[in-house]
Amino acid sequence: MRRALIGIVAAMGIGLIAGGASAAEGDHTYVGVKKCRTCHKKELIGNQYGAWKEAKHSKAFETLKGDEAVKIAKEKGLSKPPHEAEECLKCHVTAYGKPASAFAKAPLKAADGVQCESCHGPGNDYKKKKTMSDREKSMAAGMWEPGKDEKICTGCHNDESPSWDPAEGFDYEAAKEEIAHAIPEDVKGKYIEIEKKLKAEKKASGGADDEEDEEDED
Ligand code: HEC
Ligand code: HEC
Ligand code: HEC
Ligand code: HEC
Repeated sequence: MRRALIGIVAAMGIGLIAGGASAAEGDHTYVGVKKCRTCHKKELIGNQYGAWKEAKHSKAFETLKGDEAVKIAKEKGLSKPPHEAEECLKCHVTAYGKPASAFAKAPLKAADGVQCESCHGPGNDYKKKKTMSDREKSMAAGMWEPGKDEKICTGCHNDESPSWDPAEGFDYEAAKEEIAHAIPEDVKGKYIEIEKKLKAEKKASGGADDEEDEEDED
């Protein structure tokens, strides 16, 4: 019954997402950043993987092993080192504390920190090119809208964070700018079409097919 209700609400397009602790997740499972990487490391699509890897979210777990983290943990009197403590992991890795069923497809690596699925939602049901090329289909398959839903960010960027600065707060628009990783304007919505054309051109000129690392179906 609960699930049915959630389904109806989701179909009406009402966001229920709260910082990764989402009721609207339904049965969608996590797949891990390696999966997203197969396509999103390509220059043609805008190399979102590279942008993420360069920035801090990818290092959020690593941060918990640093001196600053150890100092914070000591001040808080934690009984475990920060990279093993729930009090820290819940915002420094992806999908912390979700039921085992959410990882039925693949266990996530803590070392990947705050990865794509922390903001875009568990990817198993939207990770096909055809699904992802259609916003409505993606949403129906569990993709979130971090560009419109500030709550996805404030589930972690809030005053529960030991490094939270109340004077600074969280500026959603500025923070999005800071982590921007857009699909190039001339490619957006046309990736499959352009890729097909490039492949055909390559074939015609006798070039090798470099698509073997893509896993679109399974
Ligand atoms: C098999 C290749 C492939 C994989 C795997 C893949 N993507 Fe995509 N993704 C695409 C393509 C193609 C598009 C559409 C590009 C276009 O034409 O605009 C896209 C679009 C998107 C968009 C933009 C959607 C929109 O409507 O604005 C997001 C966000 C996204 N992908 C996130 C992810 C995440 C997160 C993962 C891993 C869970 C992932 N993708 C895995 C190929 C892939
Ligand atoms: C799962 C928790 C989580 C979510 C969700 C999250 N963040 Fe973060 N964010 C972090 C953590 C942890 C750091 C610090 C990482 C570090 O320094 O090791 C961080 C750092 C940042 C930074 C500064 C570092 C940088 O990469 O330049 C920005 C900007 C940022 N986040 C923006 C956002 C935005 C915008 C959203 C929502 C679309 C968001 N975050 C969602 C946990 C999260
Ligand atoms: C409510 C979510 C949340 C929790 C819980 C949390 N963090 Fe963070 N942490 C963040 C965010 C978001 C950032 C980056 C933005 C900021 O500084 O607030 C961050 C940044 C950091 C940084 C980098 C600070 C800097 O100045 O660059 C360290 C170190 C850190 N956290 C350690 C910890 C430790 C240790 C714990 C556990 C005691 C912890 N965090 C718990 C969300 C959280
Ligand atoms: C901290 C949150 C966060 C993380 C982590 C993150 N993204 Fe995003 N992503 C966003 C936001 C916010 C946008 C802007 C959405 C908008 O403007 O509608 C975005 C946009 C995108 C887009 C669409 C760009 C466009 O032009 O429409 C793609 C594709 C994408 N992300 C893929 C990824 C992939 C792949 C990863 C992991 C390697 C990733 N993202 C990690 C928050 C995040």
